[in-house]
Amino acid sequence: AQIEKGNYRHYMQKEIFEQPLVVAQTLQSYVRPFDGKVALPDIDFDLSAVKRITIVACGTSFYAGMVAKYWFEQFARVPVDLDVASEFRYREPVLEPGGLALFISQSGETADTLAALRHARAEGQIIAVVVNVPTSSMAREADLLLPTHAGPEIGVASTKAFTCQLSVLAALAANLARAKGRMSEDEERAVVEHLREAPEAINNALGHDEDIAGIAHLVAPARDVLYLGRGPDYPMALEGALKLKEISYIHAEGYAAGEMKHGPIALIDDLVPVIVIAPSGPLFEKTVSNMQEVRARGGKIILISDAKGLADAGEGCMATIEMPEVHPLIAPLVYAVPVQLLAYHVAVAKGTDVDQPRNLAKSVTVE
Ligand code: G6P
Repeated sequence: AQIEKGNYRHYMQKEIFEQPLVVAQTLQSYVRPFDGKVALPDIDFDLSAVKRITIVACGTSFYAGMVAKYWFEQFARVPVDLDVASEFRYREPVLEPGGLALFISQSGETADTLAALRHARAEGQIIAVVVNVPTSSMAREADLLLPTHAGPEIGVASTKAFTCQLSVLAALAANLARAKGRMSEDEERAVVEHLREAPEAINNALGHDEDIAGIAHLVAPARDVLYLGRGPDYPMALEGALKLKEISYIHAEGYAAGEMKHGPIALIDDLVPVIVIAPSGPLFEKTVSNMQEVRARGGKIILISDAKGLADAGEGCMATIEMPEVHPLIAPLVYAVPVQLLAYHVAVAKGTDVDQPRNLAKSVTVE
């Protein structure tokens, strides 16, 4: 059946606004209502025996994997290797027999990711996949299928599939941590509780759509834009930059906030908007001090943070975008929204073809 845009101007916009619903839908299938614990599909291998995880994906799905690396290592203390699929095979990765290889893909058909999956299978890995299309090649070839329930995604730039991937990966991290004896039952329930707060928090973030549309006019004239973040917000900076590149054709770079002084700081002047993704929390102060380095060089800052963060560091910014205060675990799911909306509104302001950006394909089936 033809999927309608309804009252939305673009599929991408519709898909951004569907996120509270589809994230809730996805989480629902990974949480057991009767005891508030994570439920994974049945598996015929022992999760507690997993010693190493190899994550492979492309594009936005790769950035979901990058966030997951922080979670798997932090919660389950399982070391994670992470590769873009086009690099994975050719670097001759060391894969111990019985290791877990995790592939993340909206379409389940991306040629590089599928080839990487087959390589990992040939090397004796257990194959887990997070995919949005349950009938896809990757879904069929998996030992452990972890579906996202984002529904069909039409806009070429991925949005709702990404936040659904993060939801599944957070549930998997908690399950793995439990299996590894790194998380108590109460802690697992607390993780689930935080995840269940995500749809409401995403909804709150969507409430800032109009402010963000206003701010987009400050970004649209730029030639270069820099995104900065730390910890799990570093992949969000990369994702923000990717979204902007994909649909507005503005050159954008995502950088680890602390690494900026080793290069991109040379680019800073008053023509380069710098978007800082910094929820208040343990990493906030450090990111803010990197932000001050930008300001001292005349950089124009757009700070995305919560009320507490904005009260501490919002002064002197060109613009601020206020997010709800959330548990650090769900911050990437919530902060995805303003970077998606900003890219969307910049593209609309520039008059590009939002749903069908030039040179890009929804599903890349060549290597
Ligand atoms: C293409 C799309 C991106 C997507 C990437 C990976 O480049 O334009 O939006 O993130 O492929 O696709 P997948 O279906 O494997 O997640």
